[in-house]
Amino acid sequence: MISFTLNGQPRDVDVADDTPLLWVLRDELKLAGTKFGCGIGQCGACTVLLDGVPVRSCSTPVTAAADGKVTTIEGLSSAGDHPVQRAWVEEQVPQCGYCQSGQIMSAVALLAANPRPTDADIDRAMSGNVCRCGAYSAIRRAIHRAADAEAQSGDAMAGTADAIAGEVDR
Ligand code: FES
Ligand code: FES
Repeated sequence: MISFTLNGQPRDVDVADDTPLLWVLRDELKLAGTKFGCGIGQCGACTVLLDGVPVRSCSTPVTAAADGKVTTIEGLSSAGDHPVQRAWVEEQVPQCGYCQSGQIMSAVALLAANPRPTDADIDRAMSGNVCRCGAYSAIRRAIHRAADAEAQSGDAMAGTADAIAGEVDR
């Protein structure tokens, strides 16, 4: 049995130690927001936060999450209105949408670590998240928009810290 905190809730799963975290999230725990893209850690579609750090869940064994805190796209907000999600909508980022949950999770981690990223910071932090629709410029704009919202309100990213801490009301 492997135990971890998922989006603020304690979870126990009885799976083989080498089961990818992505399979546990999607197949065992029925959270389908995290996507399977390449399966080999190259595209970022499967990105989740593990103790606040973005990881590729397709190539992370579930044992790496033991006793840790996992945050998926479902854990960012109860109504899809986390500041980064709002910025994504306002900038009309998604095209096909497939890569977007992974993109958003990487952006959340970036902004938690660096509330005022430069374009270069964004490009560096997001370089592991591939978008076949080429939404990169919109993604960059949305990250700046979310950062601006935080600067104006002073608390727009409170949800980010709560989500990473697993404290979002669900
Ligand atoms: Fe995990 Fe592509 S599906 S990095
Ligand atoms: Fe289609 Fe990124 S929006 S792959």
